[in-house]
Amino acid sequence: MKKKVGVAILGLGVVGGGTYRTLVDHREFYLKTQGVDISVECVLDRNLARLQELGVPEECIAGSIAEVVANPMVDIVIETIGGVGVAKDFVIMALQEGKSVVTANKEMISKCSHELERIAKRNACGLYYEASCVGGVPIIRTLLDGVQANHITEMMGIVNGTTNYILTKMDQDGQDYQTALKEAQRLGYAEFDPTNDVEGFDSTYKLSILSSMAFHTKVPYTKVYREGISKISACDIAIGKEFGYTLKLLVIGKNSEKGVEVRVHPTFIPSAHALASVNDAYNAVYLRGDALDDIMLYGKGAGAFPTASAVVSDVIYAATHSEIKYSTYKNTANADSATKFVTDFSSAYYVRLSVEDKAGTLAKISGIFAKYGVSIVKLSQKAREEVGEGETPRLPLIVITHKTTENRVKNALAKIDATDFAKVQAVIRVEE
Ligand code: HSE
Repeated sequence: MKKKVGVAILGLGVVGGGTYRTLVDHREFYLKTQGVDISVECVLDRNLARLQELGVPEECIAGSIAEVVANPMVDIVIETIGGVGVAKDFVIMALQEGKSVVTANKEMISKCSHELERIAKRNACGLYYEASCVGGVPIIRTLLDGVQANHITEMMGIVNGTTNYILTKMDQDGQDYQTALKEAQRLGYAEFDPTNDVEGFDSTYKLSILSSMAFHTKVPYTKVYREGISKISACDIAIGKEFGYTLKLLVIGKNSEKGVEVRVHPTFIPSAHALASVNDAYNAVYLRGDALDDIMLYGKGAGAFPTASAVVSDVIYAATHSEIKYSTYKNTANADSATKFVTDFSSAYYVRLSVEDKAGTLAKISGIFAKYGVSIVKLSQKAREEVGEGETPRLPLIVITHKTTENRVKNALAKIDATDFAKVQAVIRVEE
């Protein structure tokens, strides 16, 4: 074991700053508990005010990436810049110089880990990314080491704090989407342009990383079905509650003899389900293994120090392990041609229709569902909608289906939407 390990930090934003402070403040503790002296040799960030705020000594401020990777005191480079531009270029430069890399960058790992891992292997160095998924929750280490005895058949989780905060506010305070989003922006959870989080891209990158590891086959993010939360109405959350459901933006991964199924979408789950009580910016991932049965990991999925905890645990791992572990699957740009992906997945559905309030409407609607083989569990009518004078009265009709397939429901709803007596207002999948 090497007794002294030097690190460099690229980017001192929220996570980089938390990482810097954690490494500096815990240096003695790590020396005592891990037997390794981890020193921050240099940092790279153009924001002088930020460097001062964090108390970075002048001699630790690097002028360029070339200077960082040429520094013989640096063994490990921490990338906390984000995105796939400069961050990827810098990571490649570090790996090419034989420095192991620790990153929090889910987009880069999801899109480029095949390239980066190839370079890391060629240069006999490590690529670690615990902080890329679910912040401080050690899900990557769990998948890499803790549950390797198992065939993982299923994972389900809440891996995005911003959307979970927004849905919690909509659920608990009856806020509409825009109000909850503004509140999330004010608190610093949601970014000025919230697309990455609210449209499910962030969750998609994380599911691509986690399911590749869990199912031992490459799951490119482009294979993940994605739907965000920006079209969710507070009224559906409230009606779902009446049926005993809570709405969450779930990542769902399944691996069965039918193939690999990966999806990210708003989902109703029973309010008694453990994931239903994961609120605000908290995250949780639930795994099912053939030997293990079920486990759930829960904690803070974002924030300076929870994410720094994951970054630093990777640094400690890299500093204390001489053998490097790479992907357990063929890490290529595309999926393995032998892996089948299920796209017509099975689910139960919550559907809200606006229907004409007159004799025969219910029979016609249930007839269409029956024609497409969709079985109904519950039907519920709500108070009449406001319509113009002389128009046929309308009301919201809620339909909960039995478990069926995506295609059957889509076909039935297309048929219903094309009638003059019913229009589809909302469709939300239900996991029991
Ligand atoms: N934007 C992410 C979230 C941060 O809201 O969870 C952590 O990846």
